[in-house]
Amino acid sequence: MKPNVLVTGGTGFTGGHLCHELKKQGYPVRAMVRDVNRAKGLEAAGVELVVGDLRNKASIKSAMEGIDTVYHIAALFRPENVTEQDMWDANSLGVRNMLEAAVEAGVSRFVHCSTIGVHGEVLDPPGDESTPYGPGDYYQESKTDGERIAIEYMESGKLPISIFRPGGIYGPGDTRFLKLFKSIKKKRFVMFGSGEVLYQLVYIDDLVRGIILCGTKDEALGNIYILTGKKAITLNEMVAAIAESVDEPAPWIKLPVTPLYWAGFACELMCQPFGISPPIYRRRVDFFRKDRAFKIDKAQRELGYNPIVDEKAGLGQTAAWYKKMGLL
Ligand SMILES: NC(=O)c1ccc[n+]([C@@H]2O[C@H](COP(=O)([O-])OP(=O)(O)OC[C@H]3O[C@@H](n4cnc5c(N)ncnc54)[C@H](OP(=O)(O)O)[C@@H]3O)[C@@H](O)[C@H]2O)c1
Repeated sequence: MKPNVLVTGGTGFTGGHLCHELKKQGYPVRAMVRDVNRAKGLEAAGVELVVGDLRNKASIKSAMEGIDTVYHIAALFRPENVTEQDMWDANSLGVRNMLEAAVEAGVSRFVHCSTIGVHGEVLDPPGDESTPYGPGDYYQESKTDGERIAIEYMESGKLPISIFRPGGIYGPGDTRFLKLFKSIKKKRFVMFGSGEVLYQLVYIDDLVRGIILCGTKDEALGNIYILTGKKAITLNEMVAAIAESVDEPAPWIKLPVTPLYWAGFACELMCQPFGISPPIYRRRVDFFRKDRAFKIDKAQRELGYNPIVDEKAGLGQTAAWYKKMGLL
């Protein structure tokens, strides 16, 4: 008998893919979602839905009933017009609520999704799991706090926990990189800075395999793993691969990044009081400024993690999905 699993964030990109894969592998899967109307695909695949919110302990408690393994994937990540407090409520307090409920329910395993963003900029790339924390914005700070809480539970022995830190997740089903694809397709893309900054992606199918290893391998218990693709690429390489995937020549226009950073700051100040998403914001500008490159040796050695989709193939499949969905 496979263990009963609970996945949070089932209506999201990663949580959704994880639910489908676990279901395919024969696990009884329950997804905690905020809106069942947005989870029809999961329901059709035989995933049990339960309504819950990370900020509401009672709802989490009922979601946990009868569960053996929890994959805590949900977080406030994409929305741009949210306050610092919203981020903390979901990504820090929400983690504590999940862990407390898991202990009370006596679950036997808890997998926590963190982010390579806890390291912020990697000053001497490639980094690894021991690279110091250095969150660079309030999303990363809230995720770092959430990870610290998970470590507190892990080290106290209250709960068998594994933590993973994904790189930039992409693939069919994701729309975070759609703007980038569109601007390259429309020949409107401009590189800010040299483009030699390192970025580390992870293709969704590779990541999902890694997450399940974290939830099933004994070696993963009490450990933290970076889960990314095999190697980092420069932004210039990434943009060239996207250009190829949309049959366009690689963009070549480059502008200095510092004025864009301050423009992002100004936009945030102006938009936030009105609850409007700023067109430019510092977190987005950091994409052009900060090296994020990591080794995945620990996950490869201890878990047998083996990401197989390289960026060219993965970005090509992403472009194909955008086209199929009429998005590009
Ligand atoms: N995408 C990346 O590149 C990346 C990189 C590193 C780490 N991560 C981490 O990976 C995880 C998944 O990311 P993703 O890209 O798949 O995110 P996503 O598509 O934005 O999905 C986030 C999910 O979290 C749910 N959620 C947000 N606030 C909630 C709350 N208060 N209560 C219950 N559910 C809530 C959302 O529900 P609704 O649908 O109702 O909004 C959604 O299902 C997150 O933990 C993120 O921090 C992502």
